Amino acid sequence: MLVLGIESTCDETAAAIVEDGYKIFSNEIASQIDIHKKYGGVFPELASRIHIKNIIPIIDLSLKNAKIKKEDIDLIAVAKGPGLIGPLLIGVNVAKALSISLKKPFIGVNHIEAHIYAAMMENLNNLKFPALGLIISGGHTILTKILDIGKYEKIGATTDDAIGESFDKVAKILGLEYPGGPIIEKLAKQGDSNRYDFKAGKIKNRPFDFSFSGLKTKVLYTVKGQNSSMHNAIIIKKNDKKDIAASFQRAVFEDIIKKSYIAAKNFNCKAIYIGGGVSNNQKLKDMFYEKKINIPIFFPKKDLSLDNAAMIAGLGYQKFKKRIIGDLLSLHPLSSIPL
Ligand code: KG4
Ligand code: ZN
Repeated sequence: MLVLGIESTCDETAAAIVEDGYKIFSNEIASQIDIHKKYGGVFPELASRIHIKNIIPIIDLSLKNAKIKKEDIDLIAVAKGPGLIGPLLIGVNVAKALSISLKKPFIGVNHIEAHIYAAMMENLNNLKFPALGLIISGGHTILTKILDIGKYEKIGATTDDAIGESFDKVAKILGLEYPGGPIIEKLAKQGDSNRYDFKAGKIKNRPFDFSFSGLKTKVLYTVKGQNSSMHNAIIIKKNDKKDIAASFQRAVFEDIIKKSYIAAKNFNCKAIYIGGGVSNNQKLKDMFYEKKINIPIFFPKKDLSLDNAAMIAGLGYQKFKKRIIGDLLSLHPLSSIPL
């Protein structure tokens, strides 16, 4: 079954052609990062306008690179949320229009669930359940028990900032560009991760929830002075930035790795599947593997960690296989949907 995936939840317009949930024929992304960089984060109205401009060309490119005609598509899968409502409306309406004109079904999938599916795509014949799912993206930080594709029991989540968001904010504090994750990772490579005694927050009686906003404030006060705000000037030396980046990254990763392993053990998980933009970080992978526990860990392969449409097409196939019916044209995208 050939599935066209469409992704437009935030600042990437993406389209992909995937067969039977795993065989990726094309995976195209039109990134808006260079435009949003000027604003220090995603500017939603601008994002919508750029999605309108890019969406048809990126679908055409995905068809061209997969060497298929649009008439060959069997199903259209689209991210229906969570995300920015303007950008979501564009992807969902294009999927509906294609569904009408090609007389093919369409299906809306959860973007967060697709991030986890990205870690499963290469191993569909050997999925292990129950498993632990860890979603670490710009908008979400979630620990969940996975009973099957589509069946989840939430274990924990962030109570304030998402992990990717905290990378972006710390980068901003250090005067670095958006998105902060890749820049912090690069800077941290040259830094001393133990120079600053940073720690992620704890939530009373909720061992699997997360808190990163206190840590972000600690970084702010270290970089700009006690009780300072974002607008204050940086008081540390340029050379200290790498140690801040390394210490911050170490604190965040120690926290999520520790909680993931305890949760995996407590909930008898046979594998850990990790997805979302932050899972692109090599140091995170190294730190997870260093622990050497007896549970296999799966990260998405390259190009599937950050927002992409191959994971949407793949999950769309799995959902359609179970239901054998697409969504109705009355489907509305939602800026917030649970896993
Ligand atoms: O999953 P994603 O592409 O979009 C959302 O669904 O949010 O994640 C984007 C987030 C951003 O906050 C970005 O800074 C972070 O992922 N990110 C990283 C890295 N690459 C992207 N964080 C840490 N290390 C990275 N290498
Ligand atoms: Zn995402």
